[in-house]
Amino acid sequence: MKLTLMGFVGIFFIACQQNPSLNSASRDIEINQKVEELLSKMTLEEKVGQMNQYSGFMDFTGPEPDKGQAASKLEHIKKGWVGSMLNVHGVENVKAVQKMAVEESRLGIPLIFGFDVIHGYKTISPIPLAESASWDLKAIKRSAEIAAEEASSAGINWTFAPMVDISRDARWGRVMEGAGEDPFLGSKIAKARVEGFQGNDLSSPHTIAATAKHFAAYGFGDAGREYNTVDIGTTTLYNTVLPPFKAAVDADVKTFMNAFNVLNGIPATGDEFILRDILKSHWNFNGFVVSDWDSVGEMVNHGYAFDGRDAAKKAVKAGTDMDMESYHFIEELVSLVDNGEVEEKSIDDAVSRILRVKFELGLFDDPYQYLSSDREKQTVYNSKFKEDVLGLAKKSIVLLKNDNQLLPLSKENQSILIVGELANDKTSPLGSWRIAAEEETAISLVEGMKTYNSNNKIKYVQGPKLVNGDPKFIKQLKINTTDRAGFTEVIQSAKDADVVIMNLGEHGLQSGEGRSRAEIGLPGLQQELLEAVYIVNPNIVLVLQNGRPLTLNWADKHIPAIVEAWQLGTYSGLAIAEVLFGDYNPSGKLTMSFPRSLGQLPLYYNELPTGRPNNPKQEDVFRSHYIDEENSPLYAFGHGLSYTHFEYSNLKLSQTASKSIQVSIDIKNTGKYLGTETVQVYVRDKVAQISRPVKELKAFEQIELKPNQQKTIDIQLTEKELGYYLPNGDWIFENGEFEIFVGTSSSETLSEKISI
Ligand code: BGC
Repeated sequence: MKLTLMGFVGIFFIACQQNPSLNSASRDIEINQKVEELLSKMTLEEKVGQMNQYSGFMDFTGPEPDKGQAASKLEHIKKGWVGSMLNVHGVENVKAVQKMAVEESRLGIPLIFGFDVIHGYKTISPIPLAESASWDLKAIKRSAEIAAEEASSAGINWTFAPMVDISRDARWGRVMEGAGEDPFLGSKIAKARVEGFQGNDLSSPHTIAATAKHFAAYGFGDAGREYNTVDIGTTTLYNTVLPPFKAAVDADVKTFMNAFNVLNGIPATGDEFILRDILKSHWNFNGFVVSDWDSVGEMVNHGYAFDGRDAAKKAVKAGTDMDMESYHFIEELVSLVDNGEVEEKSIDDAVSRILRVKFELGLFDDPYQYLSSDREKQTVYNSKFKEDVLGLAKKSIVLLKNDNQLLPLSKENQSILIVGELANDKTSPLGSWRIAAEEETAISLVEGMKTYNSNNKIKYVQGPKLVNGDPKFIKQLKINTTDRAGFTEVIQSAKDADVVIMNLGEHGLQSGEGRSRAEIGLPGLQQELLEAVYIVNPNIVLVLQNGRPLTLNWADKHIPAIVEAWQLGTYSGLAIAEVLFGDYNPSGKLTMSFPRSLGQLPLYYNELPTGRPNNPKQEDVFRSHYIDEENSPLYAFGHGLSYTHFEYSNLKLSQTASKSIQVSIDIKNTGKYLGTETVQVYVRDKVAQISRPVKELKAFEQIELKPNQQKTIDIQLTEKELGYYLPNGDWIFENGEFEIFVGTSSSETLSEKISI
């Protein structure tokens, strides 16, 4: 203990206080010196300890570990054999564990506490896919800032977010956690989220380190199946998968997380090419890489390592710096170094990276700076977050269809029937990564509609159950497919209603990690219920709550109004009610294509042209098409209606420099309501060294217009937007002809061509 305390004091001495007046370059030098000094005092065991991360047993975010290991984990902390904990949160819990590291280990190096603060800590924002549909970068950044503020008050220093995986396959459950299918928008959102979490000053106790995950290509698993093989070419890797990761590095993200998948035959956790060559060398990333949960150990299952020892060796060699929950680093690395199988300089590099982030977080200045119970009490669930979190929930809603202007609903004298188990669920809207939020803390749709001040008669009937039993984060949900109890009551009530709000979709735990689906229609008996109600009362507003694009062909054909309300978090019901009654004019736009049929997946708007494009007028079959379905999505990337209408005209292009194009367009609000429009600009490089997509988003701008108001938007496209990556990773810009599309979605645009 005496030795420990001395070590602790010693570290404080070398750490000094971080001097905020120093500019960032000299602060980096100062921190690097401190890291070196500390490193020189560490034994090999202590160094390897920094590379070891354990889960505390508060929440399981991976396969449940053997409980017997709990005690040894605490012993390891005291020995300095642990660098980080995940899944320990709340000031009292974190303090107890931090004290062991700081006061009982020889050098007293503080732990860094990580947690999956994905879209909120306890106050929950919309799921990331929903947030992305707002296309509102400021609001998205603010959402991350709020998450950081709340989580840091509960002792968390580091979040495993943002997930910046591009995903084109709605079967994959984790599409809910990303920003959709587009690398350009995905990069902007990656930057916004990193900046929101990390703020301007990482050493402030109100900000937390962010993680760009999962490196790389986790969203491209074959057949949309979780943890499955990824086999993609380098054109897709450089142009589609990597840009959001690069944007995160440019935004100074402090950590990266490995992906579970094999990428072109090599597990991402052991992939020197992406970790060392691209990330650490080419991009000059100087933060650290944490594995995913046991992804080091899983290299054995992949058939890439003989055993845990071999896996540890390969992971470190490739550039993985910290091991989450596989135990192989702590068990094997010391002897691997002693035997000369791993160079100590690789260990030193990994540890320096980890220590640097700890210094930057201010943990050496005061390891307890995140640990104020008073601040935690004042911050968690603070209603001061409501305006922004609710605001983003409204912005995330996408109006998919609105025939005959059924929406907005009248506020007077209507009898409104709300149907569906989800409508009364106060937990499901928190989504899959509800994390530290208490159960039942979301405002349900029924609550939102009932508290909304309208002169309507509102009745709720649940109808058949969606889920049997008690939903649990780590367990498979049991969807009801047989018990039709409740059908009759719904149908009777629907006959008497002026309008029926059917709140259908997926339970919050039907998407997320480990929740791939082979069918992506409305689960359980919901489709049957929808059709049964339609027979007695077709005046239906379908409000969807779901974590992925769904197949909605029947609904699109028959139901007059469809609102995509995702899982919107704590204030879900309020946000939906405001949109349904027209206090907020919906402005969200899809960031993933909604397929007509499962067979179209993977589906994405920015596909390459084919040699035999589909021409429906052509009578022979020799064209790229389906004989039983259209090629186009049901709802395209960028689609989203408003209660008003925007008219686009007067698209003009001009060349402003040898490598840039000026785009100008007029947009007019020709409807009756004030509205926000997201003006989208897409580019096609007509002929290039490699075939280029039929359309790629390269700019967007949000404008608010009053009825009859018109604005001209001017957007500059430069070499940065007009160039692309060759298969060898080189960036290239080529002069030639470009087609520019501007419009309200990827499928509704005006277009012009220009040669530069
Ligand atoms: C997920 C990560 C997550 C980690 C820790 C893994 O199963 O893939 O995204 O951060 O668990 O909870």
